[in-house]
Amino acid sequence: MNSRDTRDALIEAAAQPSPETTPSSTSGTESSPPLFGRFSRRSFMASLGAAGVVAGASSLAAVAVAQQEKPAGASEDDSAVTGAVPVVLNINGRDHHVMLEPRVVLLHALRDHLGMPGTKIGCDHGQCGACTVHVNGRRVNSCLTLAIMHQGDRITTIEGLAQNGKLHPVQQAFLDHDGFQCGYCTAGQIMSAAALLHEPIGQDDDSVRAAMSGNICRCGAYNNIVDAVQQARKQV
Ligand code: FES
Ligand code: FES
Repeated sequence: MNSRDTRDALIEAAAQPSPETTPSSTSGTESSPPLFGRFSRRSFMASLGAAGVVAGASSLAAVAVAQQEKPAGASEDDSAVTGAVPVVLNINGRDHHVMLEPRVVLLHALRDHLGMPGTKIGCDHGQCGACTVHVNGRRVNSCLTLAIMHQGDRITTIEGLAQNGKLHPVQQAFLDHDGFQCGYCTAGQIMSAAALLHEPIGQDDDSVRAAMSGNICRCGAYNNIVDAVQQARKQV
């Protein structure tokens, strides 16, 4: 008797054998006598497979219903979040209504709840400037400030910097001077530079470098970034 035969024999022995239904042979072939009373091994496994398909379909249907029941505009995890409260954020000139936990920072509200991935996550704790946005015209690291604190504020992200299809002068200057390489820091650099145009800093390059020192570029595009900022400063 091989190992498969042995296994089948053990299964059969545990399956309430009766004189009427217990086969005389325990062969594991397709023509083997019925196990578990009236089921053959193949039909038993087939029925298990069918049950699995039904169970899987039921689960999928339940997920589909749950997704359909989410309120419009809710993000994937809103229904699972306890303590979420309604928040209204004015972003790029438009009010956005969203359910947020009070602990959610502006950066994650923008990217994860409002579908605005232009603002980048770098360090996620205030050291790289990749997440810079404007709040009432001033640059802010959006990873360091709670979204709920900015109801009633005017928030601008990189998605809202161009106006009427025309690039902001800083955006154009970054293109003109190759102010980026991989581009990961670029949204934050541009937002920082755009706010800097209205800040009281000196005219020289070192003043620009100091004013932009909160924005880190791992590609080292700093010289071109300074050139771009200086070009934009002359135009505004
Ligand atoms: S991600 Fe906010 S400063 Fe780095
Ligand atoms: S262009 Fe790559 S990090 Fe700045």
